[in-house]
Order: sequence, then structure tokens, then C-alpha cells
Amino acid sequence: AQVTISHGNARVTAELPTGESVVVLLHGATVLSWKDAAGDEKLWLSDAAKLDGTKAVRGGIPLVFPVFGAGSNGEKTKSLPQHGFARNSRWEFLGKSTSEGDSSNVKLDFGLSSESLDDEYQKAWPFRFGLLYSVTLTRESLTTTIVITNDGDEPFEFQTLLHTYFRIKDIAKVSIDGFDNAPYIDQVAAKAAKTQSGNITFDGELDNIYTPTGGPKQPIVLQEDGKPRLRLVRDNLDDVVVWNPHVAKSAGMGDFEPKDGWKKMVCIEAGSVRSWQKLDKGDAFEGAQTIHL
Ligand code: BG6
Repeated sequence: AQVTISHGNARVTAELPTGESVVVLLHGATVLSWKDAAGDEKLWLSDAAKLDGTKAVRGGIPLVFPVFGAGSNGEKTKSLPQHGFARNSRWEFLGKSTSEGDSSNVKLDFGLSSESLDDEYQKAWPFRFGLLYSVTLTRESLTTTIVITNDGDEPFEFQTLLHTYFRIKDIAKVSIDGFDNAPYIDQVAAKAAKTQSGNITFDGELDNIYTPTGGPKQPIVLQEDGKPRLRLVRDNLDDVVVWNPHVAKSAGMGDFEPKDGWKKMVCIEAGSVRSWQKLDKGDAFEGAQTIHL
């Protein structure tokens, strides 16, 4: 049995012979769905998410580049949209690959470059760059890898983030491991600097930028009802944003449905967002996450 790929005008779907599958929307190269062999969905996607390219997708794995949030780099980021343009641009499907004769994995590659960017974004961020985004599905994991190259003569600075919306059963029963002693910025409390003690649990809106002390290899474990469900390992991405919008923030998002959907989702977002990565002419940055079942 072979890996099945279907490539339409708007999305690419891959399924392993054993039933695991992934769906990627070309708008934003947004992973919309990741299912295990039993058909159990791992990602949360809003019922009101716009999938027609008019807006960034509310759910799945939107990709943040070249700025996180509203931007804090003065002149260089002031014209960019919230979370940058990568999640709001149409990417090109570059093809799939598998290890020879091996149908237990598949890698899908997507590209976006300054040449294919909309005029308004080119004006807002006038650098020459290339983005290569790879989504690798195996029987036990999903890996997403971003490679950023500076193809121009000017150095540039950027932030990037893999904004994963995990689907959960009940936020009240979730705890996330791997953050003990991590310094963080509390975006709900006017960006106050704090330090985490123990696991992360939820009893209201939470929007924190953590820099875990163990570095990127320190696993992050999503637990439900005291049982480990998913394990996330990062490569070269030092920061992790954890976000749950709770009642009021969900109410304010037009594309967030159902309104009590915050009980069923939590964002764990691996990236580099606390400061700025600088890329000189000809240089490349690579960052990745692997989510293990
Ligand atoms: C998170 C931010 O990464 O994304 C939150 O930390 C933000 O502050 C959230 O609200 C969603 O952002 P957006 O632009 O998709 O509504």
C-alpha cells in the first residue's frame, strides 16, 4: 500500500496506508487537520474559520512570520499585520517525498518567497527572503519545520512561531509539563515578567510567552486528566507561547465558534518571539517542532 496524496487548488491531503492523515491549506500553508490511525483529530479548528483566503485560519497550525503580535520593532514592523503575512499568503506546494519504499512517512514541502508576496506585504517588509515549510507525517508524530533564508543584500530581523491549536476534551482537566521555573511574560497582566512554578493549568484567560529553562530539547507534555496525551519537542525554537482565550476573548473573535470552543482548545506555540533573530545576506535559520502521539 502507498501513501495517498491529493492536491487540489486549495489544499493538500496526505494519508498513510495505516490511516494517519494530514491536511494543509495552501493559504498560509496552514495545517488544518492531523489524525491518528483511529481517525482521532489532534488539532482544533473553529467552525467559523475562514478557509477561503480572506483571513488567517482560526485553528490548526498557522505560521507566524516575520513578526509576532503587533510588532515591537519600531519602523521595521509598523506596517505589518498582526502575526505577520505568512499565515495570510498563498504558498506553493513544492512536492512530497518519502524515504524510498517506505510508506510509513511522508513529507510535504511548501514555499513562499518575497517574489510571490502580495504588493502590500512587499511594501510593508521590503526584504528578499525565502521560506521553506515542511510537514512530515509519520505513524507516531507530526513534524513541522521552517527554513528561512535571506536572499537579499540587506540583513533583516524576524520572529517566527508555529501557532498550534491543540484539540482537547476539557481545558479544566489540562495541565502542561515542562515549564517549571520558566521565566515568562504575562501578556494579560500588561506584559509583567514572572516565573512559572510547576505545571501550567487554566482557570481563566492565559496568554504567556515562556522561555523554558531546559532549552528546546526539554519536552513539553500535554496532559489530560493526569494522563500524558501528546509530547512536543522543539529544535532551535527557544520560546513557547501558551494561550487560552477563555470566555471574553472568545466572544470578541468573530471567527471563533462555537463560543464555548475555548474549553476544547489550547494553543502551545513553539517559536522565537522574545527577541529578534537577525539574518545576514545568504544566511539561513531553521526551526522545528515534533509532536509525538
Ligand atoms: C497568540 C497571542 O499567539 O495569538 C495572543 O499570544 C493572540 O495574544 C493569539 O490573541 C491570537 O491572535 P490572532 O491574531 O490569531 O487573533
